[in-house]
Amino acid sequence: MAKEPVRVLVTGAAGQIGYALVPMIARGVMLGADQPVILHMLDIPPAAEALNGVKMELVDAAFPLLKGVVATTDVVEACTGVNVAVMVGGFPRKEGMERKDVMSKNVSIYKSQAFALEQHAAPNCKVLVVANPANTNALILKEFAPSIPAKNITCLTRLDHNRALGQISEKLNVQVSDVKNVIIWGNHSSSQYPDVNHATVMTPSGEKPVRKLVKDDAWLNGEFITTVQQRGAAIIKARKLSSALSAASAACDHIRDWVLGTPEGTWVSMGVYSDGSYNAPAGVIYSFPVTCKNGEWTIVQGLAIDEFSRKKLDLTGQELTEEKELAYSCLS
Ligand code: NAD
Ligand code: LMR
Repeated sequence: MAKEPVRVLVTGAAGQIGYALVPMIARGVMLGADQPVILHMLDIPPAAEALNGVKMELVDAAFPLLKGVVATTDVVEACTGVNVAVMVGGFPRKEGMERKDVMSKNVSIYKSQAFALEQHAAPNCKVLVVANPANTNALILKEFAPSIPAKNITCLTRLDHNRALGQISEKLNVQVSDVKNVIIWGNHSSSQYPDVNHATVMTPSGEKPVRKLVKDDAWLNGEFITTVQQRGAAIIKARKLSSALSAASAACDHIRDWVLGTPEGTWVSMGVYSDGSYNAPAGVIYSFPVTCKNGEWTIVQGLAIDEFSRKKLDLTGQELTEEKELAYSCLS
């Protein structure tokens, strides 16, 4: 029997991530090849014509799984009945800007959209915030939508996770699909800590620790970390636009694993409401290693944290605490 369609909201759908993301969702990349979807696309009035153009292209693409498209500039219409909300709408960082610079523009959007989601989304709607500052926008959304369970509100650090897998795969000249269990700790910003201490590579003679295979701690503790931390800025410099296809693909990975589960023995990185695990600050959205089962994420517990890592976990946690204060000062 055919499944009931799932309603997926994409805000900022006329933007460049939106343009890469909506065809992926309509093809089943996010929710599975047997899962029909109805796309809800929201943008602001100046982008209404472009949004309608995206809708026309979705119709023209004749995606078999796509059972309907709502394209609107009305936030209530956009949020009504949605089961998954991917929040991409906002102002992207331009060359030379830090994420803090886009804070005041974006947190007020997330405050107002929190109300609409809380009142009109389907019960148990899963929310993924992509727009920067992603962790703090997600926190604001959570704070102003108190009836949505905190565990349903997450932010995207899967792009950073995938970037870390990509760097290790290039360094070792192995398939990226054979590398697993890197971790992104903390903020989706240049303070994030990409950690390979528990990462492994599948080799013909079994699973081996990344550190043993790379045999270059100076690279792993230096250039590897800064490359992943600065990758967003490097893409902006090269494209004069921020990452889009990789961000859209990571958003699909994030929701797919959350809804359908992570493979046995594998974890992924997600920005989730911190309970203080690993002595991260509680009450911010912090990226942790998580496993997912039956539509719920769980923070992987008990991983050893050495002194080098401890400092980096604390540094990015400190930045998130400061961003939280700054966000509230922008809203007052
Ligand atoms: P973009 O400017 O191309 O698109 C953003 C869209 O949002 C535009 O169409 C704009 O009209 C729309 N928008 C603005 N205010 C809105 C509102 N109130 N409601 C609905 N839509 C609104 O930007 P982009 O390149 O698609 O990037 C989107 C966001 O994602 C940016 O904040 C960017 O920094 C962020 N980003 C995050 C990650 C991540 O890994 N977390 C990666 C890449 C980009
Ligand atoms: C990215 O990581 O590519 C985005 O968050 C863009 C940025 O501002 O760095």
